[in-house]
Amino acid sequence: MIRVENLVKQYGGITASNHLNCRFEKGKVTVILGGSGSGKSTLLRQLTGLEKPDEGSVYIDGRDLTTLSRKQLFDIRKKMGMLFQGSALFNYMNIFENIAFPLREHTKIADNIIKTIVTMKLEMVGLRGTEHLMPSQLSGGMMKRVGLARAVVMDPHVIFYDEPTSGLDPISTGVIGKLIKDLNKALNITSIVVSHDIESCFKIADNIILLYYGEIIAKGTVEEIRNSTDERVKQFIHGEPEGPIPFTRTAKNYLDEILYD
Ligand SMILES: Nc1ncnc2c1ncn2[C@@H]1O[C@H](COP(=O)(O)OP(=O)(O)O)[C@@H](O)[C@H]1O
Ligand SMILES: [Mg+2]
Repeated sequence: MIRVENLVKQYGGITASNHLNCRFEKGKVTVILGGSGSGKSTLLRQLTGLEKPDEGSVYIDGRDLTTLSRKQLFDIRKKMGMLFQGSALFNYMNIFENIAFPLREHTKIADNIIKTIVTMKLEMVGLRGTEHLMPSQLSGGMMKRVGLARAVVMDPHVIFYDEPTSGLDPISTGVIGKLIKDLNKALNITSIVVSHDIESCFKIADNIILLYYGEIIAKGTVEEIRNSTDERVKQFIHGEPEGPIPFTRTAKNYLDEILYD
């Protein structure tokens, strides 16, 4: 459903996406896994049309995002849900208004219907009855869930998550992971999750794309990645200091981040 072909993105002298080729299957959860600086957020920005690549294409349902006009891109992006790092809730709006925001912005749906939709989405993320609360009254995990309710309020075909569990305690991490998987099934949505957390990635992913300094070093199902005999992949998923990935200061930093975050 979503296909990336020969994608290149450079910033100054840094190649953040180095000739990437991959696909994201319809109705499945694909995790883009990699250490800090490996190019995960860059790939996400190209997939969502927030940035244009230097080379290559991003096909969504057969249409190349990189060739669309602003208006066409805007229309496609209405059918994309996004859960940003830090949830990005409006702190001056209550939970109801936060979730209703995309509907008010992009549609002419009547207030009573908006109320029904928001109630339903809150129910889905297990936060029924919290409409009147302000974001500051919520825990980090609850904020993520509100962000999730907002991300699905326009009934997207695809939903993007940038580090959905970073900064959460283990229990909230489990809750969000399960929610991502459950919503994926219930809504038959395509889910694309950026993460550096190997353990939660294995729990929620159908497919994994492993990035390392701008390149895809492995892609496949969870089983395929787990059983990979590629030394770089083994080193990555076990966080071993000895192996083909040079253990420079930066490599050590990102392994630390993966292991001890
Ligand atoms: N807007 C930008 N300007 C300059 N360099 C950038 C920009 N965005 C990303 N980079 C660089 O590209 C590389 C990949 O970054 P990023 O995609 O943010 O990685 P990740 O999300 O995996 O941590 C990094 O070296 C980063 O410094
Ligand atoms: Mg990032």
